[in-house]
Amino acid sequence: MRKPVIAGNWKLYKTSSEALELITSLKPMVENNKSVEIVVAPVFTVIGSVKHAVTGSPINLAAQDCFWEEEGAFTGEVSPKMLIDAGCSHVIIGHSERRQYFGETDTTVNRKIKAALGAGLTVLFCIGETLAERDGDQTLDVLKTQLCGGLSGLSADHLASIVIAYEPVWAIGTGKTATDEQAQDAHSFIRGVVGGLYGPTTADAMRILYGGSVKPDNIKGLMAQPDIDGALVGGASLKADSFAAIANYGG
Ligand code: PGA
Repeated sequence: MRKPVIAGNWKLYKTSSEALELITSLKPMVENNKSVEIVVAPVFTVIGSVKHAVTGSPINLAAQDCFWEEEGAFTGEVSPKMLIDAGCSHVIIGHSERRQYFGETDTTVNRKIKAALGAGLTVLFCIGETLAERDGDQTLDVLKTQLCGGLSGLSADHLASIVIAYEPVWAIGTGKTATDEQAQDAHSFIRGVVGGLYGPTTADAMRILYGGSVKPDNIKGLMAQPDIDGALVGGASLKADSFAAIANYGG
């Protein structure tokens, strides 16, 4: 049985007082939800205070990125070990905004995934095609390349601490969600690729999240798909009531 994951990516939003307000409102709304793994990913600077605020609740903390070195002369970077120290259990790696605006490649994504796993973090590994790639019938090739690149050199044991997030770039922040069928098709393909690389047992256990304009009114349809195991939520995670409605989709 794959435990669903609902993760909120706060991106570059929320000062410390705003973050505390959000988490304080969210906490009681999800405290009885034992059926879903709930994760929020604030900016680095507020991870410590948000961690303090969620103590005793089922909410897990993620960072939105990390570097691959543990320490050293790497100005501006944050290492997986430091994320653990700050209270994170999860980290998002390879988000399309990192790929698009900050030069992230499959090679750097792979290095970061290895380092994060080595430190004991659970990785939310993002992949997804752009609109031009979808229109050019390249979706499956792109997904396969990103998957193989990101997972290169990892064993089946490592995959137990990876959650894949399929996020079609054209659906992120646009209000344009993939249809349930489009998402299911991509997820089933991804599971197939994981199966080809690591075998059916690993593929069956792999949790694959959908991301891209997930809202309270479309989560149920997405979660009804056999290969969709949760959601990575951007905009709708910035308000406690909408994120709680998504996390509590099961009623
Ligand atoms: P969105 O973002 O829900 O605002 O589309 C999703 C994401 O980027 O993870």
